[in-house]
Amino acid sequence: DKGGWSSFMAKEVSEEPEAVAKTVLGRISGDDIVIPELEGMDELFSGIDRVIVLACGTAYYAGLVGKYAIEKWARIPVDVELAHEFRYRDPIVDAKTLVVSISQSGETMDTLMAVKEASRLGARTLSICNTQGSTIPRESDAVVYTHAGPEVAVASTKAFVAQITALYLLALHVGRIRGSLAPEVGAEAVEQLESLPEKIQWILDNEQERTEQLARWMADTRSVLFLGRHVGYPIALEGALKLKEISYIHAEGFAAGELKHGPIALIEPGQPVFVVVPSPRGSATMHAKVVSNIEEIRARGARVIAIAEQGDSAVLPHADEVLRIPLAAPLFEPLLAVVPLHIYAMGLATAKGLDVDQPRNLAKSVTVE
Ligand code: BG6
Repeated sequence: DKGGWSSFMAKEVSEEPEAVAKTVLGRISGDDIVIPELEGMDELFSGIDRVIVLACGTAYYAGLVGKYAIEKWARIPVDVELAHEFRYRDPIVDAKTLVVSISQSGETMDTLMAVKEASRLGARTLSICNTQGSTIPRESDAVVYTHAGPEVAVASTKAFVAQITALYLLALHVGRIRGSLAPEVGAEAVEQLESLPEKIQWILDNEQERTEQLARWMADTRSVLFLGRHVGYPIALEGALKLKEISYIHAEGFAAGELKHGPIALIEPGQPVFVVVPSPRGSATMHAKVVSNIEEIRARGARVIAIAEQGDSAVLPHADEVLRIPLAAPLFEPLLAVVPLHIYAMGLATAKGLDVDQPRNLAKSVTVE
């Protein structure tokens, strides 16, 4: 039931605040994150020396974001790999490896087979999954469910923000157990997590219409590029994937720092480029570098749409459009910056008259390898 929305995707994007809130619910204890499902597993988390995250599609990009949080808070090295690539490369894995799989459906065959292979090689396995009782959690030693609610549209949206949320909860939980997370850092993260739903709602209330209008203006666009740096990089990849999936427009995401090593050659007059701008409060250097990337592509005629935090005036002289997101600590920005990109992809597909819920050639859950 679309509940009055024009599509399941529209409904599911509107549920992004709730997806985060429900995933956090019941997992905060005072200033700490405590995940009840992981009770009794402290020894496992103390004993691992690396994490490998495995997933496909949008879930893989959630994993890329999660790497920053796990390394920062739990101080364990993390590799993130496409599940189908992991399986066929004779991976080096042992009992001190925690393999974290991410899957909305819990049925993606590529991810399932990779998890089975990891288990066979002796790794411990933990599944982040949105579907109770599905196959991947059943094949795993532990599961942390995302509580995004059923996702029907083929292109994943609310599950993505819930997956990042769950990865952050896991990173905080494990960081506390391993003693690598300073209590005040944990307390700040809890505060950030709790305030996310209303910040996402702010974007839906204040920037959705403008973003959709922008998408309508761009209905004839043939290619869109997305740039991001640090945690904004996987968001650029996600923005591009969503556009490809539902609007059939060529789209590519790049690490902003990589621009001068190749992609800048693609910039010609009129080329639309979305740029995820990191907060200047997080790292002034990174912010300045991304602003200078914007200047470089603008000088070559690109049409720049910046996604930047409220009050960041440095982007104004250089961007054609600025979509605003509320202030958040740097690691939490991806959960906000992705929202306008989901809205944009949906808006563009709608403007082209396409079925946003059932894009051609794609299935919600791919149960073949
Ligand atoms: C793809 C879907 O085939 O599978 C994507 O079209 C999804 O939207 C990906 O991100 C992974 O699915 P899941 O269920 O494992 O998260």
